[in-house]
Amino acid sequence: MSEQVVDKRRRLFLTAAATAVTGVGAAYVAVPFLASMNPSARAKAAGAPVEADIAKLELGQLIRVEWRGKPVWILKRSEQVLQDIAEMSGQLRDPESNESEQPELCKNVNRSLKPEVFLAVGICTHLGCSPTFRPEVAPEDLGPDWKGGFFCPCHGSAFDLAGRVFAGVPAPLNLVIPPHEYITDSRILIGSDGGRG
Ligand code: FES
Repeated sequence: MSEQVVDKRRRLFLTAAATAVTGVGAAYVAVPFLASMNPSARAKAAGAPVEADIAKLELGQLIRVEWRGKPVWILKRSEQVLQDIAEMSGQLRDPESNESEQPELCKNVNRSLKPEVFLAVGICTHLGCSPTFRPEVAPEDLGPDWKGGFFCPCHGSAFDLAGRVFAGVPAPLNLVIPPHEYITDSRILIGSDGGRG
């Protein structure tokens, strides 16, 4: 891998990390407002849908937003990634997501409403650690067959870039895809599926 490619990936990763901090910060702004509500209104607001704007999301970039106290990842995938996902089935535990949790409309090979936009709860289905975004192809620590995915450092579970778990790791299921819907081409409402399921 050339130095230039490594450098570009590193930049993408840093951009994603910086955006993540912004996203979390934005979510915390709501706390004083919630604190002033009565308990039932507060509970309702805490479970309310959260809007994410992906107009500026770049190819390969992952952002994080908070929904119901959980991290939700949104990743923009390339054509190459989609092609890799389509060829990954043999290495996965639940490639068709028959046992895993996602809205009915996301029960497809990409596990998404739009092929290029992946959205999932960033919590490992083993014991709840947060996996690390590892978009690099064949990094030294993950081996020559790694085509990009998510790696959980707690006990070594690995997921592809559709959040599907690899066979032979501790995590039993694919990452959860929360209900969500597009309210415009670039705005997603997480926690709502518009009643479509
Ligand atoms: S919590 Fe992720 S592998 Fe155990």
